[in-house]
Amino acid sequence: MPTRFARLAVGVTCAMVAWTSLADDRTAGAPTFTESEIQIILSHGPWPMPATQDKTNRVSGKPEAIEFGTRLFFDARLSRVGDTSCATCHVPERNWTDNQRRAIGRVVVDRNTPTVSNLSGSRWYGWDGGADSLWSQSLRPMLDERELGATPKHVADLIRGDEQLACRYRRTFGETPPAKNDEAIFVNIGKTIAAFLETLVSGRTPFDQFRDALARGQPPLSGTYSDAAQRGLKLFIGKGGCMNCHSGPNFTSGEFFSTGLSRFAPNGKPDAGRIEGVRKLLASRFNLLSAYNDDASGELAKQTHQLVVDKKTTGEFKVPSLRNLVLTEPYGRDGSIDRLHDVVRHYSELDPLRLHAKDGKPGTPLKLNAAEQRDLVVFLESLSTYNNGWRPDDGGPCR
Ligand code: HEC
Ligand code: HEC
Repeated sequence: MPTRFARLAVGVTCAMVAWTSLADDRTAGAPTFTESEIQIILSHGPWPMPATQDKTNRVSGKPEAIEFGTRLFFDARLSRVGDTSCATCHVPERNWTDNQRRAIGRVVVDRNTPTVSNLSGSRWYGWDGGADSLWSQSLRPMLDERELGATPKHVADLIRGDEQLACRYRRTFGETPPAKNDEAIFVNIGKTIAAFLETLVSGRTPFDQFRDALARGQPPLSGTYSDAAQRGLKLFIGKGGCMNCHSGPNFTSGEFFSTGLSRFAPNGKPDAGRIEGVRKLLASRFNLLSAYNDDASGELAKQTHQLVVDKKTTGEFKVPSLRNLVLTEPYGRDGSIDRLHDVVRHYSELDPLRLHAKDGKPGTPLKLNAAEQRDLVVFLESLSTYNNGWRPDDGGPCR
């Protein structure tokens, strides 16, 4: 952790030095924002967003479920040989990632570990959108041979056989874990873990303070948001076009695009991305079209109903949130990019043949100069805080 702080501090210092040496340059100093730019900045807040309840999960928001889910997330007994828990890869103090290029469970998996904070209210989960609910996404790693490598029977037997876990199951679902029907227990465990994950919301950042001052029509408190961060913000919402995809309070539209950012295919094979995600989702026993969806209105299953396998989505990945990035290097779906500078350089110099907009037309490189690239990085860093949204509390023993 100290090295991370140091690196962040060095990054900020470099930007300050650059700023001083550019004092005569017209890119230096605080920018002014037009009324329409202010409206866009306001759309990136307020933060945190109001908590939402997941209607497809009947224990969403229930305190007993949250407590139980907290324990399960850290419990390696959920894995077949007892060596891997969710927290093996989603490490709290690493903003719920592992800082590896590609996740390492029982073996190396295909993709970089994303954070599990700020997910409440999302439409699709996973880099390829292979799940349509937080609870079904939470079931996937339990079954994956490379991750927890378990079975519904293994999980159900663990819950039935452990007094504390069985007690918590009873408190959460109002019934003893049934002697038969392993799958029902298994799905309920996914819903319990999802109830815990919904509570993870990263803390307020320097950007949020700046945004809220603008919302109140006040100038930001002097010295709280650097000129470089403000210039980077102006690029982000203007010339950079970043907010077309990284939109809203969580800096993601939740949609899928091909950016050419992750260059290296895992295991030498191209990663099909969204098209395979849709195939997986439609074939899943645990999607919102299944009987495990607790939303009787069927409202939330509509989008799943409308999904089609579309060749044009090959190689598309979900737009990630940009909050707390300073804790989650390396970057990109394949973890091939080491620093935020390198991400920004990619967008700045990107090969038009690699980036295709939804209409199929090649994108254009942004051609940001070195000072602009530095400003954009300082802005991205201002979306981070060392608060990972978690206050450990497992509620003590269950009686
Ligand atoms: C081996 C490391 C590893 C383990 C163990 C692991 N995960 Fe993950 N997790 C990943 C990776 C890699 C992804 C991205 C998967 C993809 O898109 O293909 C991911 C994605 C997710 C997501 C989706 C995040 C998003 O942005 O949509 C959630 C939620 C999640 N994991 C929860 C869990 C839970 C709950 C457990 C324990 C039951 C768990 N994970 C265990 C590596 C891991
Ligand atoms: C066309 C939509 C789109 C635009 C425009 C866009 N991004 Fe992205 N961004 C994505 C997608 C999709 C990914 C994940 C791609 C991957 O890894 O293959 C991503 C990934 C990132 C990441 C890595 C995050 C992580 O956790 O790994 C950063 C940082 C980032 N973008 C910043 C920016 C900045 C800065 C701009 C503007 C210069 C920008 N993006 C413009 C869609 C977009």
